[in-house]
Amino acid sequence: MRIVLVGPGRAGMSLAIAADAADHEVVAVVGRTHESAANAAAMVGASPLTVGDQLPKAELLIIATRDGAIAAVAAGIAEHAANIEAAIHVSGVTPVAVLAPFADNGTDIGSFHPLQTLPTPEAGAARLAGAYIAITADPPLRERLEQLAADLGSIPFLLDDDAKPIYHAAAAAAANFPLAALAMASDLFAAAGVPWEAAQPLVEAVVANAFQLGPRAALTGPVARGDTETVAAQLHAVAVTDPQWRVAFARSIEALATITGRSEQFESVLAGEKEDQ
Ligand SMILES: NC(=O)c1ccc[n+]([C@@H]2O[C@H](COP(=O)([O-])OP(=O)(O)OC[C@H]3O[C@@H](n4cnc5c(N)ncnc54)[C@H](OP(=O)(O)O)[C@@H]3O)[C@@H](O)[C@H]2O)c1
Repeated sequence: MRIVLVGPGRAGMSLAIAADAADHEVVAVVGRTHESAANAAAMVGASPLTVGDQLPKAELLIIATRDGAIAAVAAGIAEHAANIEAAIHVSGVTPVAVLAPFADNGTDIGSFHPLQTLPTPEAGAARLAGAYIAITADPPLRERLEQLAADLGSIPFLLDDDAKPIYHAAAAAAANFPLAALAMASDLFAAAGVPWEAAQPLVEAVVANAFQLGPRAALTGPVARGDTETVAAQLHAVAVTDPQWRVAFARSIEALATITGRSEQFESVLAGEKEDQ
């Protein structure tokens, strides 16, 4: 496909580099400034454009600006998109309807959300291989996007537009929340004089177990065993040694007690924490 990219940031350039490597042709990169467009366009041999320029003929236009800017960008460029067959955005939370200005011109619209972290263009392009991609589009665009995902080495799946907010919350829970727990663990290990690297085999085994056994069955430790005395000792140690983590630690115990069906059993241990806060 001939592809036009609007918004040459981390996600957009990850897709552009991966699509270029998969023998698609990125014909133009549209940036907010000529300079940002030129730098990015040079990476994939495309023409640099800015918003308001006439867009070249292409089968696919990808809008990869931040979520809040997609609607305004779509409204600003749709009138220059007479030669564009389909327009998509790459947000996992934004409805496809924000691309209505294109649909009004007869252009197919949809979304294509990589369920992957894309921290830089190069690292992101590499990480698209093996990643899942959520597709929201009707046929025939749906089949085109499924083929594009396959070309990138990714695994496409269909996502209802209505399900996007809860899907995005799930993605945040999976990708972001573990980092809060790991930051807490890193500080508490440091307080014990234990190097952070020592946690790596443990953490990697836990993640592997979560996918082999399911996240609930993978749980080991004092909450899974119903050992309230050990948990009380942990809560005390955190409160005394590194009180900044006291509330988060207690809340995490509460969540584990809920998923193991032991809320009642841990109520008194946690009640002590709540009274002290
Ligand atoms: N990064 C990820 O891990 C990831 C993964 C999946 C999906 N996504 C999705 O990808 C989209 C972009 O996220 P990102 O992380 O790539 O953000 P980003 O790195 O900040 O990139 C956004 C890009 O859009 C440009 N831009 C902003 N307003 C524009 C406008 N009016 N016209 C043209 N270009 C404009 C920005 O240019 P300036 O630099 O000039 O501001 C920047 O190049 C979001 O919808 C996000 O949900 C991201």
